[in-house]
Amino acid sequence: MPIKNLDDGTGEKIRVLEVDGYYAPTFDQVFQNQEEDFRTIPTWKIKPGDVFICAYPKAGTHWLWEITSMLVNQSADRVKLIKETSMLEGVTQTMFDNVASPRVLNTHLPLRLLPKDILKMNSKIIFVQRNPKDICVSFYNHHKKIIEYDYDGKFENYVKRFLNGLVDYGSWFDYTLDWEKVINDNPGYPFHVMSYEDMKTDSIGEITKISEFLGLKSDPKLISEIAEKCDFSNMKKEKDPLENASEWKDGKPGMYRKGQIGDWKNWFTVAQNEHFDAVYEEKMKETSFTYRYS
Ligand code: A3P
Repeated sequence: MPIKNLDDGTGEKIRVLEVDGYYAPTFDQVFQNQEEDFRTIPTWKIKPGDVFICAYPKAGTHWLWEITSMLVNQSADRVKLIKETSMLEGVTQTMFDNVASPRVLNTHLPLRLLPKDILKMNSKIIFVQRNPKDICVSFYNHHKKIIEYDYDGKFENYVKRFLNGLVDYGSWFDYTLDWEKVINDNPGYPFHVMSYEDMKTDSIGEITKISEFLGLKSDPKLISEIAEKCDFSNMKKEKDPLENASEWKDGKPGMYRKGQIGDWKNWFTVAQNEHFDAVYEEKMKETSFTYRYS
């Protein structure tokens, strides 16, 4: 298997799977031959009504998957599965085919690596964004805590690593600009673009928008129950125990870490922040996306 240890030049390394120059996380417990399975994803069959949550890692995928699953089920009962059971790059084709309908699928991959059927079937896509500084901090903690990455680097080096895209799923900039182009190139396609920050400050309003996007009945009572059930502390309490603790250092799942806007301020130095802003300005000069940092 083409395992690559991504060295950022300091000697610190993150262990990933490299497929044709693309970096994916490894899932040693799931796959016998992950590379082979990964290459088949574009041929997988989509079902009518499939909904996709697409997001760069750490943008709030678990949160949005839980909310969307509850909406689709029209019930605020806790979802008994974890979102990894329907994450395309984390399952085999058989597992994917066996996800029960109605399917809320999720992925961190760009469209070009996803099933070709998606656009043909007009599958609804919820594209979740979060400000890249909070993503950087969240991804750093993720990399440090998951055993398979075999990573224990310093944050000061990680900021440069993140800006250079030396992580699984590659550069946040490339990922975001790539999806922005797909969205612009497909006017009229059912995309719902939303942000972690808006969900955090107005969860009822944002859940209502998702419900309307999905063409569901927007019952205010159900929506407020879902918002409450998916509040950070409730999710952490009830979903952490379902995570696969053996994947985490010390056996402690860390998917639900802090759940705040602006934690980056506790991590970035002034110099790191200025450098980040300079790289952002350069790489994102053409974008129409905007981000809220506090
Ligand atoms: P932090 O590390 O900043 O806490 P993803 O699901 O895409 O991997 O994103 C994980 C991030 O979303 C983590 O951010 C996690 O704590 C946060 N998160 C998960 N559930 C959340 C919720 N219910 N409310 C707010 N943030 C949540």
